[in-house]
Order: sequence, then C-alpha cells, then structure tokens
Amino acid sequence: MASRRTFLKNSGSLLAGAALTPMVYSRMNAGVSQNDKLTVALIGCKGMGMYDLTDHLKQPGIECGALCDVDNNVLQERAKSVQELTGKTPKLFKDYRQVIDDRDIDIVIIGTPDHWHCLPAVDACEAGKDVYVEKPLANSIGECQVMLKAARKHNRIVQVGQQQRSGQHWQDVIALVQSGKLGDIRKVKTWGYFEYGKGNPRVPDSPVPDGVDYNTWLGPAPKHPFNKNRFHGTWRHYWDHGGGLLTDWGVHLLDIPLWAMKVKFPKAVMASGGIYSYSDNAIETPDTLNVLYDFGTFTLDWDHAGGLSRGIYGRNYGVAFIGNNGTLIVNREGWEVIAESENNVEKTQVIPLQPADDASHEKHVQNFLESVKSRKRPICEIEDGHNVAILAHMGNIAYRTGTRLIYDETKGKFQDDQANKLLKPAYRSPWKFPSV
Ligand SMILES: NC(=O)c1ccc[n+]([C@@H]2O[C@H](COP(=O)([O-])OP(=O)(O)OC[C@H]3O[C@@H](n4cnc5c(N)ncnc54)[C@H](O)[C@@H]3O)[C@@H](O)[C@H]2O)c1
Repeated sequence: MASRRTFLKNSGSLLAGAALTPMVYSRMNAGVSQNDKLTVALIGCKGMGMYDLTDHLKQPGIECGALCDVDNNVLQERAKSVQELTGKTPKLFKDYRQVIDDRDIDIVIIGTPDHWHCLPAVDACEAGKDVYVEKPLANSIGECQVMLKAARKHNRIVQVGQQQRSGQHWQDVIALVQSGKLGDIRKVKTWGYFEYGKGNPRVPDSPVPDGVDYNTWLGPAPKHPFNKNRFHGTWRHYWDHGGGLLTDWGVHLLDIPLWAMKVKFPKAVMASGGIYSYSDNAIETPDTLNVLYDFGTFTLDWDHAGGLSRGIYGRNYGVAFIGNNGTLIVNREGWEVIAESENNVEKTQVIPLQPADDASHEKHVQNFLESVKSRKRPICEIEDGHNVAILAHMGNIAYRTGTRLIYDETKGKFQDDQANKLLKPAYRSPWKFPSV
C-alpha cells in the first residue's frame, strides 16, 4: 500500500495546477498495473457527483466505467465531460440498478439528491461494491441506520462526502481543541447564513422536461407534479428530498464538534424557528432555525438564516469552540483563536487567521481510494456520516414536532411518539425500504 500512497502523492504533483486532459490522463495511467486499477461509476451526475468523479479521475488507476442519471440531458452532457477529461466514453445508464448489476464496477459514487442515497448505497454494498456517498448520509434517521447495517454486513468501505475531515487545517483545529489549551469547552456554536437558504420564487407546475424520468427522480418519495423548484439543486428546500440548511450545511459543520469533542449523540435536543421571511417562496424547510443540543458537559448550537450572508464572528458560516481560556473559530477559509484575559493577561495564545487547506476534497477522495485498497476504514467512515446526519435530522424533527427530544441510541428512536413518526419515510411503490 505504501507504494500506492507514494504513487497517489506523485500523481498529485503531476496534476498540480494542470487540468485533466486525455493526454494527462493517459500519461498518469501509463504505468499502473492491472492490480491497481479500479472502475468507478457515478449515480447522479449533475452537480457534486461530477465534482467527486473528477477528483477520482485525477488519481492514477481510476477509470470511469459508467454514468447513470434519470435526466438524459445531464447524462449526455456529463458523458461529453468524461470524454473530454479522459478520452474515454463510459457506459450510460438511466436506471441505477444497471450500475449495481455491472460486474465491471468496483466503486459507486452517489451524487443523487438526499432522498435517493439509501437504496443505491444499500444495493451497492450488497453487490460487493465500495461506496463514496455524498452527505448527508441520507434523508432520514431510519435510512442512515439501515445503510450503516448494510455496510457492516457486507464489509464494505464507505466514505461520506464530508471532506473537511481530510483537510489539514481542520485536523489542526481538532488537535488544538483536544490539547486543552482553550480550557474547558462549555459551548460550541455552528452556523450557516446562506442566501440560497431562502428558496426561489414559486413557479407553477409544468410539463416534465424532455429527456427527464421525473417519476424515477421522485423514486421512493411521494408523487408530485413536476415543478422546476422541486428538481435539480432546489429540492433541498422540500422535506421529501432534503432537510434545508440544517442537513445541507449542518452536517459539514456539526461533524467538527462531534469529532473534536469525541461524542456521538446528545442527551436532549430543542429547536425553534420558522419560515419567517420568505413564506412566498418555494420552501418547506425553515428559513430561520436555532437548534440546541445538550451533551451534558457542553451545549452545541446550530443557527441558520436563509437569505442572509452575514453570520457571527464576521463569517457567514463556521464553527466556534468556546473555552474558558479562549474561542477558536474555523471555517473553510481558515481558523483563528481569540483569547480570554484575566488581569490583562491572556489565558491562551492569540492565533491570527491561519490559512485553509484548499485540497481537502481531493485528499478525501485519495483517502477513500487508499481505504478501498487497504480495507482500513476511511477518514469519514459511514458511522461518522451516520452520526452527524442523525444529529441534523434530530434538529429538524425537534423543530417539526416542537418537542424537546430525547434519543435512545440503543433503540435508535426517540421517547416521543410524534417524533418517531418522522424517523423514516414510507417508500412509494414499487420501491421498498431496504431490509438488511
Ligand atoms: N460535499 C459537498 O460539499 C456537497 C456539495 C454540494 C452537494 N452535496 C451533496 O451532493 C448530492 C447532490 O447534490 P447536487 O446539488 O449535486 O444535486 P443536483 O440536483 O444538482 O444533482 C443531482 C443529480 O442526480 C440525478 N438523479 C436523481 N435521482 C436519480 C436516480 N434515481 N438515479 C440517477 N440519477 C438521479 C438528477 O437528475 C441530477 O442530475 C446531495 O446529497 C448534496 O447534499 C455535497
């Protein structure tokens, strides 16, 4: 494995700053032995999935065997992109089950909307494929649980797309928090003030665009007429497909305190918010939300405001660890420490803004591919994605039920019956909730 790691590192320098072209791709792959080759398929090709696939293709020994999308326009466009990057044309599928049945495929990347993560992931695990699945792990607590079970039962490598875990500056932050230099940490704040969180202006339902299989796009979710807002990109604001800013950005940011503080589930969860500013927009998830998680020795808050872009500590999104000696603030742009002081003496070292690691996504892909080879668990293992996705869904369920929730980790459910009704969706026929 050491040789592959070195190879990955070297190829990184081969590609550093250079765009992937068929010539670069074939040079990079020229010396790769058959043993080191892996064939990847992408399910859900429009947005983040294509970004994930591109970073896979920048690693030696990776071939794109298939693309799958229910929108033929996206499928054809991405087939062209893969051809332009590698000089090779993958197989094209409209039904993800063809990817699962394809014995040439070793790895499946899942870049579908959140309501379409669970079935392909479970089926891929059952078929003996390894999986890179986008975050949040799934659109419900029950789906997260069954996906974790499937990965364990079939002994698969699953990396979740929370790429912060592979970024050096995030790792530095974790080390500093765990060093104790900030003193006892009693509070952690996480927040996301994002313009897009307000949704789009409503538009009338319309005919399904040519080339789109909208019934399959909806898949296990309830049937709805086609609406541009309940489709590419903006599905995030509808409960049947996503969980708004809390599951979209929250999982990236809430993951950091779970990792740093070495905790899993809170003792209790409360939430307040609503659609306070954009009730005329196409949005079901709250534009304004505060969630408070009680971990017994510290509190963790999530705070979001869709339609705004000024957050706290001068950043529109981030994580702040508030210790008795100082506060550490971090986001994808870097990190810093503000010190508390007593009698004019600073209680910890003031650290000015430290640079960010911009390569975290590619490193995350490399870490996954190393795990596929070594069979050691990757840095954002399925259980990490499972824990933080459940945490985020708890916040949304506390908001939707208006209840202070207590989650029983061993039973995998809440003490509250109303909340338990939101644990998992009823799958629309012919799709069946997986049993593992
Ligand atoms: N890691 C990150 O930083 C990051 C960033 C953005 C998005 N994401 C995640 O990536 C996922 C995709 O988000 P997006 O913004 O790219 O969405 P998108 O709507 O732009 O793209 C989703 C694609 O999946 C396709 N699709 C839907 N159902 C399908 C099915 N059954 N089979 C095959 N294809 C299907 C759609 O046609 C579309 O092309 C989400 O889970 C999102 O949370 C992660």
